[in-house]
Amino acid sequence: MLSPIDKFAYAARQASRVAWFMGHGFATGQFRQTRPGVSDVTRERPREKGPGLDRLMRDLAVCFQLDLDNVASGYYPLPRDADGSPADLLRRSRAFMADVPVAAERKAKGAGTEVYSAEKAEELPAYFLQNFHYQTGGYLTEESAEIYDMQVDVLFSGSTNAMRRECLVPLYQWMKGKDQRKVHIADIACGTGRFGRFVKQAYPRVQLTLSDLSEAYLAEARRHLQDYSGVNFEVANAEKLPFPDASVDVLTSVYLFHEVPPKVRRIIAREWARVLKPGGRLIFMDSLQLGDTQGYDGMLKSFPVNFHEPYYGSYIKEDLASIFEDAGLTHAESRPVFLSKLVVCDKPT
Ligand SMILES: C[S@@+](CC[C@H](N)C(=O)[O-])C[C@H]1O[C@@H](n2cnc3c(N)ncnc32)[C@H](O)[C@@H]1O
Repeated sequence: MLSPIDKFAYAARQASRVAWFMGHGFATGQFRQTRPGVSDVTRERPREKGPGLDRLMRDLAVCFQLDLDNVASGYYPLPRDADGSPADLLRRSRAFMADVPVAAERKAKGAGTEVYSAEKAEELPAYFLQNFHYQTGGYLTEESAEIYDMQVDVLFSGSTNAMRRECLVPLYQWMKGKDQRKVHIADIACGTGRFGRFVKQAYPRVQLTLSDLSEAYLAEARRHLQDYSGVNFEVANAEKLPFPDASVDVLTSVYLFHEVPPKVRRIIAREWARVLKPGGRLIFMDSLQLGDTQGYDGMLKSFPVNFHEPYYGSYIKEDLASIFEDAGLTHAESRPVFLSKLVVCDKPT
């Protein structure tokens, strides 16, 4: 049961996050426009309109209400977003603001593969060696890892964590009646560990593995979860995970598939099916797809025009349930969560 003080504290906290991130979005909006005299090499804008600011704000409020309802239903504890101290916020804000014009310059030139080199390609897949969102350093540097969360929350107007937490609902349903000390959860492409931390807040005794192909992002995840025990960190490609067959109880993955080519999505799905135990669960979240929410398709189609997202256009058309079913999993549920989509699959026993 949530007290009025809990509800007020939640509303105040989320409202200040939305104001902070949206403020950065408005302040840097000019850099997202194509400047006169600078050729924009990105593709043509879709004609279809997006949902508009009023509708987005209403749906954003629904997303936060859902988050709070989940807490009231006992699915997870009252969230702590763990954004760091005011000094951390200011440092990240400065670093984010400094990168915006540099990323805009990269966008104007269509320079989305600055981080690629033949030398790096010997160790890392070429699709990974790109400046996603035109960000400096791609996924390869400490500086990029430091501002990643700020970039995502500016994009999602402060709702990213609330959307990620929706993954804790199917996790709660799966965990019911189980001894958490005997459960191994692996979060694949964990990035800076924001979702992993919510898992630990809800289930402090589970054995949690956070895995990502980026050493720099995993180092940031390690810092973010330094107060928690029972967490392993693995630098690994999601296509070839360092786990034996049938060894993981629950696999989670948030915002990975839109950044890998279609063929790789299928390889990863098979790898997830391999490492899951029979009876285990896959909890997957990524961007909303075409047709999921009436009025949103125009916005989804314009995303790869504004940001370097070479695989997003194919992602929004994918039949995710089929990909996972073809890999040997059973599709249990798919539903939109504001700007994201949650998909749950189980490995047959
Ligand atoms: C958009 S970020 C999502 C990060 C995090 N899950 C979140 O909720 O914000 C994509 C992440 O996928 C990782 N990644 C991309 N390709 C990968 C691959 N083949 N194997 C493992 N991680 C990969 C990147 O390093 C990055 O951390």
